[in-house]
Order: sequence, then structure tokens, then C-alpha cells
Amino acid sequence: TRVALAFSGGLDTTVCVPLLEEEWGYDEVVGVTVDVGQPEAEFAEAEETAEALGLEQYVVDAKAEFASVCLDSVRANATYQGYPLGTALARPVIAEAILDVAQEHDCDAVAHGCTGKGNDQLRFEAVWRASDLDVIAPVRELGLTREWEIEYADEKDLPVEAGNEGVWSIDTNLWSRSIEGGDLEQPGHVPGEEIYDWTRSPAGDSEEVEITFEDGYPVAVDGEEMDPVALIDHLNEVAGEYGVGRTDMMEDRMLGLKVRENYEHPAATTLLNAHETLESLVLTKEERDFKKLVDDEWSQKGYEGLVDAPLMGALEGFIDETQTRVTGTVTIRFEGGQARPVGRDSEYAVYDESFASFNTEDVGDITQNDATGVAKYHGFQERMAAKVLAKVKGEGT
Ligand code: ARG
Ligand code: SIN
Repeated sequence: TRVALAFSGGLDTTVCVPLLEEEWGYDEVVGVTVDVGQPEAEFAEAEETAEALGLEQYVVDAKAEFASVCLDSVRANATYQGYPLGTALARPVIAEAILDVAQEHDCDAVAHGCTGKGNDQLRFEAVWRASDLDVIAPVRELGLTREWEIEYADEKDLPVEAGNEGVWSIDTNLWSRSIEGGDLEQPGHVPGEEIYDWTRSPAGDSEEVEITFEDGYPVAVDGEEMDPVALIDHLNEVAGEYGVGRTDMMEDRMLGLKVRENYEHPAATTLLNAHETLESLVLTKEERDFKKLVDDEWSQKGYEGLVDAPLMGALEGFIDETQTRVTGTVTIRFEGGQARPVGRDSEYAVYDESFASFNTEDVGDITQNDATGVAKYHGFQERMAAKVLAKVKGEGT
């Protein structure tokens, strides 16, 4: 029996190889590495590791296909909570490519090295579960932690370079580079330049300010309490020095005419960014999603100059309720024309490092393997719709 494994040569996928043989009894593991624009070094690592493991490895070039998905996402202005979709768009492309190799090379199953805590398990399996191959997720099903993996790799003398798995978990493709884990798991930790690879820090000076919010209102900068006028004046001055808060746009007026507009608003940009950053830490996803609708409505009425509309009072009722937990601090760095959030802290944070972390196993009494059921259901209707469509079309011809 044979299993095709999504293989990167990193710690997770490397420990999966012997585990698939020992724990699941496969005779052969086939490694599949899909090129969606990772740096060259990652392929070298994957190939070296595959060779050292004696793994049959296939490298599939899916760059052009992935690039076309990236451009489709541009047409959709596709972002999630403010960042361009990257890993999310690459996973289905990778999953399809692996499935093709698995079917071509007579595999009975497909496997990935994702944890039971992330998104990628769901994205891979939504594709794979449309096939009749078995789906295996060793890290999730065995509830592995990074610590355990490192020890196991050592015991088995597996070819994982020391420090190879670094402090962070990095996923790179043509469209975007994601860095998570390690010290970044503390929301207040301000990362150094070393996490970046594609981008150079903007030339010139930069400056950080810490803004304190109480019930959603900014009350202090760098620990110094200020009344609203002084606080806004101060931020206009500081942020303005760094070129923060310029807008050049085509604006749709109330009568329908478009107009070219330019604006300056350094303090406003700073406070809006900081406030939304704090909300992202303390509000639940449901509150955030619904508040976007409320905020848009508030803004529209505000644009119309109807701040005293009855609707405004109703909207503000919702806003007031949510803001009772928007208390804490946000660190903003002014650089290169941006007021960029680089740290956030609140006693109301709906976040616990030990739950999100790759290094720990349990979330209360929830284990990684509990996500297996979720992964089986994820995309259920989509797979069913595809099957139904294929059947109906088949009958039609
Ligand atoms: N959380 C992001 C997403 O769901 C990025 C995950 C990328 N994986 C990683 N190990 N850095 O798309
Ligand atoms: C993710 O899937 O979102 C992160 C990586 C993982 O948990 O395997």
C-alpha cells in the first residue's frame, strides 16, 4: 500500500514519513512537493531530506496555475481581515496537484503534516475528501507537539537540520509570505526586522507611540493622559512628520457625481488603525463581523451629515456595548508614510497563547484530533454539489 504525502522537508512532514509506515502500516510513502513560488532553498531542502529518507519524491510546478488564482483574487479585491489571501489560495492548488500525483502513482491514501489547530488541514481535506483515497493527518491524529517531533526526529536520526525549524513557522508562496509562532505568539511583542525577508524597512527615521484606550476612547499617548483636543493635536504633529495620513481618491458624492479628492489626516489614521487593532484582540469574530456592518452604516450616515438620525442612536447602542471591553494599549510605528500596529495588549483579550500555540497540545479538554471531524465535514456541500452536477450532466448526454 502507498500513501502520497504533502512534503516540504520541514520538521512536520519529515516525521510524518516514518510515522505513516509505523503507525498506519504503509509500505511506501511518496513525497509530493508542489511549487507555488517558494524560495529555491526550500526545494533544495525538500530534495535533500527526501533523499536522506530514501523517499520517492515528485516536484510539481504549479506556479502558473497559482499565479492565475492570485490574479483572480485581485479582480475580487480579495482580502481577509485586512491582508491579501495567500496561503489560503495556494492550498487548494497544492492539494489538487498532490491528488493528481497520488492517483497517477497508485496511492491508496493522501496525507498532510498540518496541525489540528490551523486552517490548512481544512483546506487540503476539502479537496482530498472528494476523492475515494484515504486521508491521513499524522500530526493531528497523534496529537503531536513540536517538542515531541524534535525528540522523535533525534531518536530516529531523521534528517532535520538543527535550527532548521527555526523559531517561527513560515509559509511562502508567490503571492505572500506568512510568519507565525515563536515570540510572535505574544500579541504585545514588537517583532524585529529579522522576521522579514521580502521587504526592506522604509528608509528614514521611524518612531513608536503607545496609545491607551478606555472603553474605545483614546485617553493617553506613551502613558501621558491627554484631553481629546491635545491628544489629536499631538498625534497630528507626530504622525504627520512621518507622512502618515494622505489620501488621493475618486470620491462618490451624494448626488452621484465622482470627484477627485485629496486629504490629510495623520491623527485620524493613527487612531483608527490603533482602535481597530485593539478590537481585533478583544472582540469575538462574530462581534467584529457584525460591527463592520454597523460601522459602515454609521459612516454612511456620517457622510450624509445626518449624525442625529434615529438610526445613529440605535447603531451607537451596539457600539457602546462592544466598547466596554475595548480597553488596553496599542503600539503604533510611524514609518514610510504608515501608522502600522506592531503590538497590542488588553486584559480583555479573547486570546490565550497556550491555546493557539503549535507547541502545546490541548485547548482545555479539546485535543488536536477533535478537529478530524470538523475536517471531514468542511466543504461537505461543495463536494456534494460537484457530484450532483456531474451526475446530472452525465445523464444529459
Ligand atoms: N493563518 C494563515 C492562513 O490561514 C497563514 C498560515 C500559514 N502557515 C504557516 N505555517 N505560516 O492563511
Ligand atoms: C494553519 O494551518 O493555519 C497553520 C499551520 C498548521 O497549523 O499546520
